[in-house]
Amino acid sequence: MFIFKVWLISIFCSQVEPTATVLDIKSKCLRDEEILQTLPVGTTASFYFRDLGPQLTWGTVFLTECVGPLVIYLMFYFHLPFIYSPKYDFTSSKHWVVHLACICHSFHYIKRILETMFVHRISHGTMPLKNIFKNCGYYWCSAAWMAYYINHPLYTTPYYGQMQVNTGLYVSLFCQIGNFSIHVALRNLKPPGSKVKKIPYPTKNPFTWIFWLVSCPNYTYEVGSWIGFTVMTQCVPVAFFTLVAFIQMTVWARGKHCSYVKEFRDYPTLRSSILPFIL
Ligand SMILES: NC(=O)c1ccc[n+]([C@@H]2O[C@H](COP(=O)([O-])OP(=O)(O)OC[C@H]3O[C@@H](n4cnc5c(N)ncnc54)[C@H](OP(=O)(O)O)[C@@H]3O)[C@@H](O)[C@H]2O)c1
Ligand SMILES: *[C@@H]1O[C@H](CO)[C@@H](O)[C@H](O)[C@H]1NC(C)=O
Ligand SMILES: *[C@@H]1O[C@H](CO)[C@@H](O)[C@H](O)[C@H]1NC(C)=O
Repeated sequence: MFIFKVWLISIFCSQVEPTATVLDIKSKCLRDEEILQTLPVGTTASFYFRDLGPQLTWGTVFLTECVGPLVIYLMFYFHLPFIYSPKYDFTSSKHWVVHLACICHSFHYIKRILETMFVHRISHGTMPLKNIFKNCGYYWCSAAWMAYYINHPLYTTPYYGQMQVNTGLYVSLFCQIGNFSIHVALRNLKPPGSKVKKIPYPTKNPFTWIFWLVSCPNYTYEVGSWIGFTVMTQCVPVAFFTLVAFIQMTVWARGKHCSYVKEFRDYPTLRSSILPFIL
């Protein structure tokens, strides 16, 4: 699909030299829902079109981002040939934590897929095709990297045994529920099809009370859930992925936080971006 963004330039005296090549683009980009009749222009107006290249809808992007890691992880879990030494082909690990990790990982991505289909109200139009390669490259490679080590036949279980595994599991589950609660709260903020922006506030669900302290609790919970997964598997690549995700999430959260502060004059001052009182 090719989408053209329409640029409007209100040039009232539109005598542009025939030889002119560079225009002064002091124009504003039209929003999708604006109609010609109501535009604040005189009798003449010029439109400039920009080709944004091939585009995909956000739903498609989210789904491809999530299906990849799900399938890739399972390939390692089932010890498909050519991954580990042939004698391990199609064998299954004797450690309970390896199975638990697989359940958690799969659950995480299935949850995301279902949320994309049934919970999110995605307001952006589309995203450039080339972004999908970047995003999927990142998600798919890190899933493969983590899966390789967790499902490795020589994987060693966590140092503190069952207690450590359980602790990680509870942290992770708690954050998954929190994350889901936030997504539901964000969904309810916005009537279907509308583009109004509102400040998200805590609701009756205790998991959303963290909205008093941070602007992007969905990211806080996501980081928490990865920390839980790290504790549970005690695996260096997982810890590394958690760190990278935390940095990335902080960048997004700060951006979102700043735009909230700019957009709403009555924005709660107690809130930080992602970590209460810290970041
Ligand atoms: N480059 C960046 O700065 C940046 C930032 C965030 C995410 N991303 C991309 O998005 C992906 C993951 O981000 P994400 O899962 O957090 O999804 P997201 O694209 O940031 O958001 C998903 C949906 O929730 C809606 N929403 C959130 N807050 C809202 C509010 N206060 N009021 C009304 N609607 C609201 C969003 O609508 P609205 O768009 O209207 O808020 C959007 O429809 C990544 O793969 C990344 O590529 C990029
Ligand atoms: C996560 O929260 C931020 C801030 O409220 C929001 O912009 C973003 O869209 C949310 N992500 C999802 C998937 O809802
Ligand atoms: C939490 O939310 C973010 C974005 O809002 C999403 O990308 C992520 O997969 C979710 N994490 C968990 C643990 O469900």
